[in-house]
Amino acid sequence: MNAPLKHTADATTVEEGLAIQEEQAKFDSKAATEVAMRNTLLTPRFYTTDFDELDAIDVSGVREDWDQLIDQMVSDPNKGHFKKNEDWDYVDWDNMEPQLKKEFIDFLISSCTAEFSGCVLYKEMKRRGANKDITQLFQLMARDEARHAGFINDALREAGVAVNLGFLTQKKKYTYFRPKFIYYATYLSEKIGYARYITIFRHLEAHPEHRFHPIFKWFEEWCNDEFSHGEAFALLMKTDPKLTSGFNVYWIKFFLTAVYATMYVRDHQRPAFHEALGVDPDWYAHEVFTKTSKLSEQIFPITLDIDHPRWQPTLEKLQKANADLAEATEKGQFFAKIGAQARAALAFVSLITIPAKSHKVPASTRLEPVY
Ligand SMILES: [Fe+2]
Ligand SMILES: [Fe+2]
Repeated sequence: MNAPLKHTADATTVEEGLAIQEEQAKFDSKAATEVAMRNTLLTPRFYTTDFDELDAIDVSGVREDWDQLIDQMVSDPNKGHFKKNEDWDYVDWDNMEPQLKKEFIDFLISSCTAEFSGCVLYKEMKRRGANKDITQLFQLMARDEARHAGFINDALREAGVAVNLGFLTQKKKYTYFRPKFIYYATYLSEKIGYARYITIFRHLEAHPEHRFHPIFKWFEEWCNDEFSHGEAFALLMKTDPKLTSGFNVYWIKFFLTAVYATMYVRDHQRPAFHEALGVDPDWYAHEVFTKTSKLSEQIFPITLDIDHPRWQPTLEKLQKANADLAEATEKGQFFAKIGAQARAALAFVSLITIPAKSHKVPASTRLEPVY
């Protein structure tokens, strides 16, 4: 007789979490996996990097904060949390408004792919490294991301779809990023992930009538995990002041602009989803950018001026260009496609040339999730 299958939420290592999901893969659907396989500017990617350079990091300069963070992650406050329990309300997928269903499934697949992208990168770092501090951190973060991805896959399975994570690991294209770009991109994605989840969580706390799916009830603990991951990357960057000064400040500005603009465009592709949540995507974007900027002051010497008169109208132009690009691509209109691409590129240049705001970075990066 087979032992009852353990849940990803209870897995204490990434290997265990992935083995459980491998076992479930026989139920996974082709269509969802195909969506997760897509590589465009807007879809979550898989990354690889120079693992030896990462392994050479010496955290002794931030030892006290480091040990505190690691101790907290080792204590594993969210073990067993990411699974369905009595708080999981019944979801009537069959009668969900079709546009909402489509956008929500798209949201879940894209979130699952993003979680899994972190998982794969962190697990690989843990596997390749020899530096105890670094491998321990990456093992802990991979553990969390495997649980997050597993939980989203639970939700998707109820809708009759699921992403085959084993297949993705082998077949999805990996994008190479130098370690410093991994720090900027991953740090930002962890912190913006925290800001996105906590903003939705607080909004639904105040307006529970808009909570059209139970998964949002889990967002608070979820975003606390992402917050810790972001703290870890802040500490990694703190070990080398060059990473956040000189010419690298331009790279930081580039990543801030790219991450914010991508979020804006992607969210505006899901109007029915935001309407069901009772959230205006423009308000939501501004709220998330404000929180992320405030948090990123812990390590980045600049923040974007999101209240600059050019910011919002240019984001709207970028979004419009993107919608036109998608339409032209679908209809096979070559010249309309080139035109839309040029408008998108121009809008991005206009965003990135808005002067940034500078400030003095605090001596210690440590922050608490207070939103
Ligand atoms: Fe995560
Ligand atoms: Fe994370």
